[in-house]
Amino acid sequence: MVKAVVAGASGGIGQPLSLLLKSCPLVDELSLYDVVNTPGVAADLSHISTPAKVTGFLPKDDGLKQAFTGADIVVIPAGIPRKPGMTRDDLFKINAGIVQGLIEGVAAHCPKAYILVISNPVNSTVPIAAEVLKRAGCFDPTKLFGVTTLDVVRAETFVAGISGERDPAKTTIPVIGGHSGETIVPLFSQAKPSVNIPADKMDALVNRVQFGGDEVVKAKEGAGSATLSMAYAGYRFAEKVLKAVKGEKGIVEPSFVYLPGVSGGDSIAKTTGCDFFSVPIELGPNGVEKAIDVVSSANENEKKLLEACYTGLKSNISKGIEFVQNPP
Ligand code: NAD
Ligand code: LMR
Repeated sequence: MVKAVVAGASGGIGQPLSLLLKSCPLVDELSLYDVVNTPGVAADLSHISTPAKVTGFLPKDDGLKQAFTGADIVVIPAGIPRKPGMTRDDLFKINAGIVQGLIEGVAAHCPKAYILVISNPVNSTVPIAAEVLKRAGCFDPTKLFGVTTLDVVRAETFVAGISGERDPAKTTIPVIGGHSGETIVPLFSQAKPSVNIPADKMDALVNRVQFGGDEVVKAKEGAGSATLSMAYAGYRFAEKVLKAVKGEKGIVEPSFVYLPGVSGGDSIAKTTGCDFFSVPIELGPNGVEKAIDVVSSANENEKKLLEACYTGLKSNISKGIEFVQNPP
């Protein structure tokens, strides 16, 4: 029996993500938690004729405890999104505390669950989550993931726009580093099957993957950031975790993880100087089986992008850790 929780279930990402999880045959119980509207969202989804039983919880009546107890996987899209002109780091002030509180809930009520953090700034919220779990004595780096799948999805889509490939997801493109601007580094030289990107299109392509989030924020004109594509991406990653848990082999997807805590991660942490980093992860029945080193085989142009990534990412990571160690 698999119990999945969506924390932030009433939001722009939370609702379509919950719909996808309700449609997933791998989920038996779907628990929706938010500070508003979960009874309505749960009632609505509960009429869908799929096996998963849906329940909705609010903070009152010990709702967080009820929502989280017994969870196998907790997906967290709770928190405010960007408006035009904002960086993801501008969300830190509000979202850091929200993520801290929810992870304390995980530590108290479902410490063995897989945790998928979507809330921005991911570069800082995942270190916050790790620090909270460490303090609670239940940090398992093989089960904590920053969801960077939307960057991969964008890279696949934008490359297909150039190559003409009908099905974008047929090309595997490692997108590594972090999840904001220059910390996002697509490695097109390692696409499989290989793709031929004309030299005069490369810079614009890299830039579009790095700043794809801004494209959506601008188009939504103050009404938020990517929600539907993020729900797709979050579901794609959650489904891979669940399939690996059920024993499917050879599942690989990039994710932002704590490198020193996972097999193969130490040497990547040494090369990058970053303890948290997104790299392709092989998933298994216990979460991360190994981190795959694609950093050392980056080409010269990609190495330059990586240098810029390391600087920004290190400061985002320290900011998250500092928030928990020395509360403001
Ligand atoms: P939204 O405002 O539509 O929804 C957020 C939801 O979180 C709301 O329903 C709100 O009530 C809820 N919430 C707030 N505090 C909460 C708490 N303490 N506990 C439970 N729920 C709480 O925002 P959205 O568009 O769904 O985006 C959510 C977050 O996801 C943002 O931080 C956004 O930047 C981020 N995001 C990340 C990625 C990524 O690639 N990782 C992509 C898109 C958006
Ligand atoms: C994205 O990449 O779309 C998200 O991180 C949301 C944002 O703020 O851009």
